[in-house]
Amino acid sequence: MPLIIKDEYPEKLFREDGKRLDGRDTDELRPIKMEVGIIKNADGSAYLEWGNNKIFAAVYGPREVHPHHLAKPDRGILRVFYRMATYSVFDRKRPAPGRREKEISMIVADCLEPVLFLELYPGTSFEVFIEIIDADGGTRCASTTVAALALADAGVPMKSLVSAIAVGKIDGKIVVDLSGVEDKAGEADLPCAITWYNEEISLLQFDGNMDLDEMNEFMDLATKSLKEIHQMQLDALKSKYITLKEEETKEKEEEVKEGEK
Ligand code: CDP
Repeated sequence: MPLIIKDEYPEKLFREDGKRLDGRDTDELRPIKMEVGIIKNADGSAYLEWGNNKIFAAVYGPREVHPHHLAKPDRGILRVFYRMATYSVFDRKRPAPGRREKEISMIVADCLEPVLFLELYPGTSFEVFIEIIDADGGTRCASTTVAALALADAGVPMKSLVSAIAVGKIDGKIVVDLSGVEDKAGEADLPCAITWYNEEISLLQFDGNMDLDEMNEFMDLATKSLKEIHQMQLDALKSKYITLKEEETKEKEEEVKEGEK
């Protein structure tokens, strides 16, 4: 059964004023908010609001591998668990992890693995739990982005961050960051991710039709947006340390004041 009946898709994905249905220009990202260190019991964590997507990522590790037979004697392993909450989508998603969740878990792990020094952690695992609380298109890219932040927050040594974005084609125009409805009613969808230390693409999927010129246009638009996302990730990480520093300074000032009494 289709998620949304095809007839329910809007006929046009652009408004009369040339903007997309949510008011964006073709090269405009949805509003994005990132925060790190929000789950106390995790070694590292991050929260991301990306348009209507709401996603948590929690990282544990390096720690013992369960089940043991998955452990590798010469290196650590990265395990990613992408889960979509039953209430996160328009229809009721079955609670058991489906094929799509397994596929996205694997994709996110493949995007992140190149930036980790797994060879330094033999016999152990890093586990990344991604919880989609609300979904509206582009969750694999948003998940990759938030998972990289959570790993950094956990203090896991990394060669760089990883950022991801989907570009696509709707009503014949190339656009960035497809919303749920654009993803379903559009003509093409190309999620991609970049590892910043070597500026290599660690994810490139494609669904739809395009020619070579369009492919170049896709990649230019993706590159511009990936830089914006990377900057937001760096800002989110810095802002945690600025807050911690401010709290530490305040505590010290209070101690001095107490001492003077
Ligand atoms: O989320 P992403 O674009 O990476 O993956 P997708 O498989 O292309 O799914 C696109 C969108 O369809 C998701 O972001 C959800 O908004 C929606 N979806 C849904 O409504 N029900 C599902 N069981 C799976 C996805």
